Amino acid sequence: MIQPLMVCALGELAISRVPYSAKETLQAFDQADLLALEYVQAERVLNSSCSVLVVNETFGAITCAVTKALAGLNDRLPTLWSDSHIAHLGMQFNADANGLPCATFVEAQDTPKGPFDLVILRLPKNHALLRDQIQRMLPQLAPGAVIIIPIMVKYLDNTVYQLLESLLGTLTTSLARKKSRLIFAVNHVTALGKSPKAKETFWNVPSLELLLQHFSGVFSHTKLDPGAQVLLDKFPQGPYQRVIDLGCGNGVQAIAAAKKWPQCQVIGIDESYMSVASATINAEHNGVADQCEFRVNDCLIGIEPQSADLILCNPPFHQERVIGDQVAMRMFAQSAQVLTKEGELWVVGNRHLGYHAKLKRWFGRVEQIGSDPKFVVLKVQL
Ligand SMILES: C[S@@+](CC[C@H](N)C(=O)[O-])C[C@H]1O[C@@H](n2cnc3c(N)ncnc32)[C@H](O)[C@@H]1O
Repeated sequence: MIQPLMVCALGELAISRVPYSAKETLQAFDQADLLALEYVQAERVLNSSCSVLVVNETFGAITCAVTKALAGLNDRLPTLWSDSHIAHLGMQFNADANGLPCATFVEAQDTPKGPFDLVILRLPKNHALLRDQIQRMLPQLAPGAVIIIPIMVKYLDNTVYQLLESLLGTLTTSLARKKSRLIFAVNHVTALGKSPKAKETFWNVPSLELLLQHFSGVFSHTKLDPGAQVLLDKFPQGPYQRVIDLGCGNGVQAIAAAKKWPQCQVIGIDESYMSVASATINAEHNGVADQCEFRVNDCLIGIEPQSADLILCNPPFHQERVIGDQVAMRMFAQSAQVLTKEGELWVVGNRHLGYHAKLKRWFGRVEQIGSDPKFVVLKVQL
């Protein structure tokens, strides 16, 4: 296996994106990661008693570099705190590729236990998640702990800077280098505290008499996604026995399926830990827990071939800050393997994404079932 090399101030490491592909052209780390690692080395931030928390990084580049550096100093493992199962898989894959032990991983709805002396925080796109994480993280920091925020300059606007200032107090910044910068904050609180519970929001879907709970990282946590609404309005008639809600978010499609076909079993899949946690709560609160199972997974990897007669999918249109249909395409390709011969994939998508034509790579029949000015619902069969 040929893996891209990350040459950073803490050494050289093989760092890939996951799922691994020898043809991958995108890097698993960026200039802001390298700048942070250079600062950590130059300022000798790591020492024999240092406990490190890494937050929200995508494929484990920082976590692996810090694991390697700490191995010679204090043998403590860093903690990676993230909402992303793919980030978890990335960190495991890259630790393994470099012969390093795996860092401790904490799912975003749980709070890592301090005291931490150093935090390296990559900013999520979702500000509600950022606010929630910082509010829960601060009580777990040692007095004087340093928070380093590596950021690509194009993502640093007034709104995010002011949000960080309001949560962390006085900030300082490094000079920009190769379009990246570091933001610094210091924890001035003198004692550890008790972290608040993970933030939750609730809203109803009156047409289905559902009350839905959302942790802060769940897609569309403040209101029903308009695409999800269009799919609910054009829901398949069925009945079906084995249903998958692919990219389940809060579980709304899975729960609607379980309610509509009381004999069916539903698997809801998402790569966000908070989504799977919220969907599980929602199935329980809405009386369909015995029909539903929610799992963190990357698309349909590991799901039995020809095991579903219906897949419902409101696919993601970005992976964190990278906009595109790469994940949707993987979802469609894998759906073709997981559906039974007569099985159906129902997709809702923004009409400009052109899913209709793209689905024909894997499927024989693609039929438009419904639409509104923005979205189309497609019924797709082998
Ligand atoms: C557009 S949202 C749809 C959420 C929900 N089904 C709805 O209709 O409101 C897409 C979902 O796909 C999830 N997702 C993104 N990448 C994924 C992957 N590789 N594997 C599984 N789920 C993924 C996201 O976390 C998000 O919850």
